[in-house]
Amino acid sequence: QEAHAAQMEQTFIAIKPDGVQRGLISEIISRFERKGFKLVAIKVVVPSKEHAQKHYHDLKERPFFNGLCDFLSSGPVVAMVWEGEGVIKYGRKLIGATDPQKSEPGTIRGDLAVAIGGNVIHGSDGPETAKDEINLWFKPEELVSYTSNAEKWIY
Ligand code: TYD
Repeated sequence: QEAHAAQMEQTFIAIKPDGVQRGLISEIISRFERKGFKLVAIKVVVPSKEHAQKHYHDLKERPFFNGLCDFLSSGPVVAMVWEGEGVIKYGRKLIGATDPQKSEPGTIRGDLAVAIGGNVIHGSDGPETAKDEINLWFKPEELVSYTSNAEKWIY
């Protein structure tokens, strides 16, 4: 049996309001789950505009910033923390390019989205942002720690 690092890599993933309203929650979660990543936190929240501004603070000088924050705070978001080896980088791979017109088929945005203003999902772009975003969206006690033990349930 592989020894697992005490603290596995974690990333922040959010299904944006368009993804929730279009009924894509299970479709998106299943892609991360089937890959072999582990869900360690999840909740449904309607973020305030202020929360959205904090989340996207790196983009505050961009012309689309205000509209982007309005959009993120326009309805329920499914906020999650996924854990696993390489999950930050590979999570971005599962998600696909920012502009759904440029994301490859097979990726979440490539398969499920058409326009950049409705690209259904967010994923942290590096270790520092992952840490910051997890701290912004979750309290430490909202994250669980467990070892997968599927064999136990196979008879
Ligand atoms: P960004 O962090 O650059 O992309 P990603 O979500 O792939 O990490 O941008 C954040 C979000 O801002 C992006 O998902 C969609 C929106 N956005 C626009 O609306 N217009 C744009 O030109 C860009 C670059 C992003």
